[in-house]
Amino acid sequence: MAVRDILQMGDPRLLRVAAAVTDFQSRQLHDTVQDLKDTLQAVRGAGLAAPQIGVDLAVVLFGFESIARYPTAPAVPVTILVNPVIQPLSNEQFEDWEGCLSVPGLRGLVPRYARIRYTGFDPNGEVIDRVADGFHARVVQHECDHLIGRLYPTRMVDLTKLGYTRVLFPELTDPSAD
Ligand code: NI
Repeated sequence: MAVRDILQMGDPRLLRVAAAVTDFQSRQLHDTVQDLKDTLQAVRGAGLAAPQIGVDLAVVLFGFESIARYPTAPAVPVTILVNPVIQPLSNEQFEDWEGCLSVPGLRGLVPRYARIRYTGFDPNGEVIDRVADGFHARVVQHECDHLIGRLYPTRMVDLTKLGYTRVLFPELTDPSAD
């Protein structure tokens, strides 16, 4: 399929609530999955949601072995998650720095639930049911927010903790690490 353009903050398509997938056999679903894979690989990102490539479906892709953008992040299983539901397993939250391919060049300190259960389906309709914490939980919450029209700056509580990646993290020399 294809590497797609990633929509950037300000595009109203990033503010929609994504439509649930109802047909796991559909060509649109399987084309979207391939485009998400191709696009995320091309930009070496941690995750990508269908609305970011202009597709109005509740599908996200996340995961990596290691990643230059977040050099201290532990591995996260590479996962396509369809129609996800997130359930916090406690009220505990933790803050860490996030970036977003739709908000290039910036990082912000974002509170997220520390431990979650997430459920949904893989692209073949098989159930996914996992417990996650730490960076894994953060990535899932970030990507699933894209399905309800939320970008991470709208989750921040202190906008003084929003800045340019090159200023905040000059050691991230990978030019794509924005
Ligand atoms: Ni994002």
